[in-house]
Amino acid sequence: MPRVRGLELPRFESRSRSARALGVTDLVVFPSERPLMGSVPVPGDKSIAHRAILFAGLTEGRCEVRGGTLGADNLSTLAALQAMGVQVDKPVDSPDTLVISGVGLDGLKAPSQPIDCGNSGTTMRLLCGVLAAQRFRTTLVGDASLSRRPMERVARPLRQRGARIEGRLDPRRVGEITAPLEIGPLPKPHVLSTLEYEMPIASAQVKSAILLSGLWSDGSTYVREPQVSRDHTERFLLALGVPLETIGPMIQLDGATFSGKLPPFSITVPGDPSSAAFLIAAAIMIPNSRVTVRRVGTNPTRTGLYEVLRDMGASIAIEPHGEELGEPVGHLHAMGSNISGGRLGGELVARAIDEVPILCALAARAKGITTIEDATELRVKESDRIATMARVLRAFGVNCEERPDGMIVEGIPDKPLQRAEVSSEGDHRIAMASAVLSLCADGPCRVRDVDNIGTSFPRFVGTLRALGARVDVEQSRGAA
Ligand code: S3P
Repeated sequence: MPRVRGLELPRFESRSRSARALGVTDLVVFPSERPLMGSVPVPGDKSIAHRAILFAGLTEGRCEVRGGTLGADNLSTLAALQAMGVQVDKPVDSPDTLVISGVGLDGLKAPSQPIDCGNSGTTMRLLCGVLAAQRFRTTLVGDASLSRRPMERVARPLRQRGARIEGRLDPRRVGEITAPLEIGPLPKPHVLSTLEYEMPIASAQVKSAILLSGLWSDGSTYVREPQVSRDHTERFLLALGVPLETIGPMIQLDGATFSGKLPPFSITVPGDPSSAAFLIAAAIMIPNSRVTVRRVGTNPTRTGLYEVLRDMGASIAIEPHGEELGEPVGHLHAMGSNISGGRLGGELVARAIDEVPILCALAARAKGITTIEDATELRVKESDRIATMARVLRAFGVNCEERPDGMIVEGIPDKPLQRAEVSSEGDHRIAMASAVLSLCADGPCRVRDVDNIGTSFPRFVGTLRALGARVDVEQSRGAA
C-alpha cells in the first residue's frame, strides 16, 4: 500500500481486524437468490485519475481533483508526486477532494529514495515519460507482479529521444527489461529530441509516456499505434491547451509552439467503466436484475465491452450525462438477460483490454461459444489473464480452450455453475470476475487473496451488497 503523507489510505473495506492483521483476505460469495437491484456509484476512473494527478502536479497553480475513493494504484501516483515536492491537501470539509499545488514543468525535485509504484503499471510507465526529461536520477520500483512486467516497450522510444533508462535484464525474455528502473539524469544543456515512433503494440501507457516526454522537447513528437488505445492523455493535453493533433491512430504534439506552461484545472473524475463492468455483468447474469451505475466515463476508447455485450443480446443502455474536461459521462443501465456467445477480436480488443476477465465470466453463462482473440497483451497484465481466467472457469466446471492470443469458452446458460474455490493469483480483476461468477454457482464459493481489489475498487464488496448480493469477507485459510 503506498504511503501518502497526510492522507488517510483506503483500506479494502469490510475486513475484520484479524484478517487485516494477517494481510490476506478471502471472499465467500453466496449464490444469488434474488435479482440485483439498485443504483450505485463506482470509484473515479483509475486511468483518468492517474493523469489528473500527474498533470495537476505539473501545472502552475492550485488544482482540484474530485472523484470518490481513490484506489491504491492512484495513490501510488499521488505519493510519487509528493516524493518529488508536489504539495497535496485534503480539505476537511470536502474529504473527496484532493487539492494539488502544481510546481510547473521545471519544478520537480529529486526524490530522496526510490519511488514505489506498488502494483501500478500505469504509475511506472507514465512516470518514465516525465522522469526521462529531469535533471536528476530516479529509481522506480514495484511489487512482485509489477517487477515482472515488460518495460522495454516504454524505455526504447524514450531512449531514442535521448533519455537514459536502464532496467534489470529479464532472464525469461531476450531484449526485455523489468523494474527496478533507473531513469535520468538528462545532462544539461541537452533536451529531449524530436521523436517519430511507430508503436509495435497498442498501449495507452506507452503512448502516454511518449506524449508526456514531448512536453519537455522543443521538437515534435509523432506517435502512431496499430489500433487506437484509450485516449485520456490526448484529451487532457487538448483541454490544457497543448498543441496536439490526432488523426485516427496518429498523434502529433508540437513542442515548438507549446508555451511550456500547463494551466491549473478542476476535475470531477468520471466513474470507472472498468469497475462498472463487474456490476453490469452481475446484473446481466442474474435473472430479473435491474442495475444502474451512475456517472461513468463513456469514452469510446473504453466501451468495447459494451459493444460486444450488445451483440451477445444483453439489455444494456448508456444514458449520456454531460462531459468532464473533454471526457463523456453517462449512466449505465443493465437488466438480467439471456445472452448468446460472442466474439472479441481486432481493434475492439484495445477498447476492452481490462474487461476480458469479466467477459470470460459472462461467456460462461452465454448460450453457445464465445471467442476471444488478438489479445496476447493479456499475458503481461497484473497476471497472465488468459491462463488465470482459464483456471478459474474450469474450477467452476466451464469448458474452455486456452489459445496463445485468447480463449474459447463454452457457456452453461441453463443450470448453476459448479461451486468453486479459486485464487485471484494476485490480480484485482480476476478476484472481482471470480466473485461475480460465484453468484451463479450451486453453493457458496471462496475467492482467495482479494486484498488486491483495493488497487482499483476499494468498495467493491459494499457495492455488491448494496445491490442485494450476499458476500462475506474472511481471513484467508490458505490454499485448498
Ligand atoms: C492503462 C492502459 C492499459 C490498461 C491499464 C491502464 C492506462 O494498459 O490495461 O489498466 O491507464 O493507460 P496498456 O497500456 O499496457 O495496454
